[in-house]
Formats: sequence, structure tokens, C-alpha cells
Amino acid sequence: MTFLTVYTDHDSSETLLETEDPEEIARALKEIDVRLRHWPVLDELRGGADQERVLEAYRDEVARIVEEEGYTFVDVAQLHPDDAPDWAERARAAREKFLSEHTHDDDEVRFFVGGSGIFYLHVDGRVHAILCEAGDLLSVPKDTTHWFDMGTDPEFTAIRFFHDDDGWVGNFTGNPIASRIPDFDAIAARRASLRS
Ligand SMILES: [Fe+2]
Repeated sequence: MTFLTVYTDHDSSETLLETEDPEEIARALKEIDVRLRHWPVLDELRGGADQERVLEAYRDEVARIVEEEGYTFVDVAQLHPDDAPDWAERARAAREKFLSEHTHDDDEVRFFVGGSGIFYLHVDGRVHAILCEAGDLLSVPKDTTHWFDMGTDPEFTAIRFFHDDDGWVGNFTGNPIASRIPDFDAIAARRASLRS
């Protein structure tokens, strides 16, 4: 279930909103022109599967949005903890890749088949931290300053949509704001405490 936290972007950031209410989340994201939609969750794919199987299972939904939005390239990105000795290093390297504020020249569109991750959108003096889970389809408009945190123990399967396949490049802003805002682990723990 999606969990949204909105912070100020000051040095000592304050929390303006935290909610799991779908309508409240939709309203807050509409204000910053970000779309969050929901597709059915297929439980058997939550833990991952090969790309062909994931795309086949969501064939109708994928075909519809590709036609609507004109995407030309679709793939599946996933990371699941394993027992290999290099897991911690691979997890750290994957996490750090987009953990600093950046933009892209294309929209960043992700459908979470399973697992979770947080997109942080830095817009108009606020940071919207959107914890996405299975069933969430998030579209981050091109040129939006943002970062992504998959946490210290990443676990997710996501379908990615692109308007061109020239390579996914981040234009890093150099703004250290990501280090001042609660990270994935902190927000996930906060949500767990709110639920208990
Ligand atoms: Fe990004």
C-alpha cells in the first residue's frame, strides 16, 4: 500500500503530511502533476520471475499504457536478497546509483510488481516521499528533481517504461538534500510504528 510523506526542504526538514489514504495521496500528487495509478496485484509474481513471465502476466495493462503514452521500450528491473557473499556489496552499489538528487530527459515510469522503493520528488520547496509497493504505477515527469531509495536490503520487481532506449541517464544536481531527508529504512520503520 502506498505511503506518502511530505517534508519541507529546509535544513531541518519538517513533516507536513504522512498518509496511507489513497484519496489524500492522489490529491497531494495531483498538485505537483505526478500520476499514481494502480493495477491489479498478481501475488505469484511478487517475489520476482523472469522478465518474459512478468511482461506476459501484465500484457494487457502494458499494451494499454504503451499505446496511451507512446513508450517505445519496456523492461523489468529487479533485485532480491540472496545468500551470495557479494549481496551486500551489490545491494549497496545498486542503491547508491540514484540515491542523490537528479533529473532525467524522459519521464521515469515504474510499475511495482512486488517489493517496494521510495521516490523522493523535490518540487516547490517540498519533498514528496512516495513509498511504492505492489500494484503502484508511478510516473515522474521528465526534468523533475528527484531521487530513489531502495533501502539497505533492496527487494523489488518493477516494470520500466521509456520513450527511447538510448540509455537511462541521470543528470545529477549536486544538491545534497537527499542526505537530510529520512531514508527508505527510516520511513519504512515509521510506517510500521504507525500501524502497530
Ligand atoms: Fe531517476
